[in-house]
Amino acid sequence: MKFFIDTADLKEIRDAAAMGVIDGVTTNPSLVAKSGRKYLDVVREICEIVDGPISAEVLSVDYDGMMAEALDWAKVHKNVVVKLPLTLDGLRATKACASQGIKTNVTLCFSANQALLAAKAGATYISPFVGRLDDISENGMDLIGDIVTIYQNYDFRTQVLVASVRHPIHVSQAALLGADVCTIPYKVIEQLAKHPLTDSGLAKFVEDARKIPR
Ligand code: G3P
Repeated sequence: MKFFIDTADLKEIRDAAAMGVIDGVTTNPSLVAKSGRKYLDVVREICEIVDGPISAEVLSVDYDGMMAEALDWAKVHKNVVVKLPLTLDGLRATKACASQGIKTNVTLCFSANQALLAAKAGATYISPFVGRLDDISENGMDLIGDIVTIYQNYDFRTQVLVASVRHPIHVSQAALLGADVCTIPYKVIEQLAKHPLTDSGLAKFVEDARKIPR
């Protein structure tokens, strides 16, 4: 399973890239707004840090505006993936991008039928938001299982990119279900590595190492 980091914070991206476990980056308008920087500047800098798919989201909600932004994003760097919302205009733009060889990440997906439409439109990635479904007492990982099954049934090429990840269990469940990618906040990436028995075991090794004759 590929790990993308879900942030526009360049320090987090650098630190995660240094761990050697990051295959790409996803951003969205909320994450970029938090950075306080221009979207284009952030994406350009990310492209220099991570050699992998970098998702940049259009800000328009109409087809013409989406396509204008998509064509601009496609010129920025070969690794830029255009993020489009799962709306009728977004699906139309997805189809148009696919016909021009522009990679897309269709975002704000909350149902299997939405994911089915995105695959039929030729999306490169689909981003189901598991955390936001959990927030309203639905089971986000059930949606991932449904999408993986549907895509396997019809051999769709669209990659399942699990998004809105809130804790390590989302990551392991995504892997167990066969998702292609999980985009993970930096804090959760750090949590993946942590285990109290590792910490206590290492402390004991360090303590016993001192008893080894030098
Ligand atoms: O990639 C989508 C992700 O950033 C949304 O996460 O926690 O705002 O639902 P969240």
